[in-house]
Amino acid sequence: MRFLVTGGGGFIGSHLTERFLSEGHEVVVIDDFSTGARRNLERVASNPNLVLIQGDMGDADRVRKACLGVDAVYHLAAAVGVALIAKQPTETIHRNIYPTQLLLEELRRQHQSGREVPLFLASTSEVYGKNPKPIWNENDDLVFGATTKPRWSYGASKAIDEFLCLACVRELGMKIVIGRFFNVVGPRQSGAYGMVLPRFVAAAMQGRPLMVHDDGQQERCFAHVADVVSAVVRLMSTPEAFGKIYNIGSDKPISILEMAKRVVQIVNPDASIEFQSYAQAYDEDFEDIRRRVPDLTRIRNAIGYEPTCALDDIIRDVWKEMKRTS
Ligand SMILES: NC(=O)c1ccc[n+]([C@@H]2O[C@H](COP(=O)([O-])OP(=O)(O)OC[C@H]3O[C@@H](n4cnc5c(N)ncnc54)[C@H](O)[C@@H]3O)[C@@H](O)[C@H]2O)c1
Repeated sequence: MRFLVTGGGGFIGSHLTERFLSEGHEVVVIDDFSTGARRNLERVASNPNLVLIQGDMGDADRVRKACLGVDAVYHLAAAVGVALIAKQPTETIHRNIYPTQLLLEELRRQHQSGREVPLFLASTSEVYGKNPKPIWNENDDLVFGATTKPRWSYGASKAIDEFLCLACVRELGMKIVIGRFFNVVGPRQSGAYGMVLPRFVAAAMQGRPLMVHDDGQQERCFAHVADVVSAVVRLMSTPEAFGKIYNIGSDKPISILEMAKRVVQIVNPDASIEFQSYAQAYDEDFEDIRRRVPDLTRIRNAIGYEPTCALDDIIRDVWKEMKRTS
């Protein structure tokens, strides 16, 4: 098979690319390395089954050529990371919506000429916004904050992607799976755009304080990228999954402070933990989500999904990779 992985030079995309190549498939990666990096693909760079197209997906011609002859598309390219989004809301909106439109136009054209190319859309738990329910299922309301707070532009732009995809399913019966990722972590994730685990591990390794935002009582669930990639692949080979949305991640919450303590314990017991206000970390307009826990019933029923990797093992895995590359 030949797959297109957009954002294949990024954290999750590079793991998905490696997985397909290891199974003997051909992979076309399109990435402008805005937040990804060539080194993410170093293990597979010489694989003859890898075609790398370096460039922005905002180019219709490039997107059309990348889609030619592929059997499925995995769309992961996007502007990612709370810090990046707070700083560059215009770019976030543009990067998250326009490439999806171009991809859908091309896949719709192929569909109408009788060629069905299934699409996986990487969406996000951020689409639930600050829904106050303790556990979120796929039919829950999207509860965004004010448009004066740029953070919500990420979830809102991904929600538009979902609407665009679901419109193609409804109007044309196209085969599309939407996965809402919840805090995916693991080797190669960059801490440069606000991602918490790589930031904590790097700080502990360097003997710097781990900076916890606000009171550290925000709750998140962290899933290993290998578990997430495996779920994506299985969903795309499950016919009943087409046209549906799935939460993908772990459903075991931990507070950010507790995670900082675990990182200190595992990586460097001499490292300290300090607290920082959101205004210091981002800006006065920043608004956070206190608790983010997925209901995994739907994905369990569809593919028997169960996250396998415990948080301490994930921390060790991230640490090992950082030691290797530092
Ligand atoms: N990591 C998570 O916890 C998480 C959570 C929810 C959703 N997601 C979604 O998963 C996907 C992958 O995220 P990631 O964590 O691997 O981030 P990442 O930043 O490592 O990957 C995104 C990749 O897309 C590329 N890219 C961005 N805009 C592009 C464009 N216009 N043209 C070409 N390439 C472009 C970047 O260079 C990068 O390599 C994203 O769609 C993201 O919204 C991730």
